[in-house]
Amino acid sequence: MVLRETVVRQEWWEVLRPPADLAHQCGLLVSEQQPEGVLKQPELRQLVQAIADQPDLWQPLVVEDESRRRYRLLYEDDRIDVWVLSWMPGQATGFHDHDHSEVALMCLQGTVMEKQMLLPSGVSKVEMPTGTIRSGGAGYIHAVNHHDGLPAVSLHAYSPPLIQVGQYVVNEEGILERQIQHGRRELMDHTIQI
Ligand SMILES: [Fe+2]
Repeated sequence: MVLRETVVRQEWWEVLRPPADLAHQCGLLVSEQQPEGVLKQPELRQLVQAIADQPDLWQPLVVEDESRRRYRLLYEDDRIDVWVLSWMPGQATGFHDHDHSEVALMCLQGTVMEKQMLLPSGVSKVEMPTGTIRSGGAGYIHAVNHHDGLPAVSLHAYSPPLIQVGQYVVNEEGILERQIQHGRRELMDHTIQI
């Protein structure tokens, strides 16, 4: 019997190279929000809403893939990057922070779920149906997962650009650890089950 390869690889060039026309249009919206310097939460929230209002900007970057969560870069410069994420059932990030970056995320299609830790042993769950925007400053810790829609789609804007993230994992002794990893590496750890 021949086992077929079912995992669809996510090539770097399709992840990191948005269509030039889409990136240009998005760049114009970025400049409208904040012509120079980093963007703070209010500008990031306005930006994701402005992008959401133009489906032709983000719909071409939606990918339906049951084997893994897909993310595609829509725009980047030296002060911001913007990503379109596609979520199928069972796909989730695990708990993480965005290091020095502020973030705004908006659900564009379907519903995603955002979780935050309530110490010592709880978790808050916020359903984010289409049109919902959430945001956080540097150090904001959350986890996001698919909730409804095939796929669910979300838009994420980071300023300064997401160079580095902290992924929260539980080691073999049950101790919480923050693992630093590159901001463009896929977040997948699910060792914290709360
Ligand atoms: Fe995040």
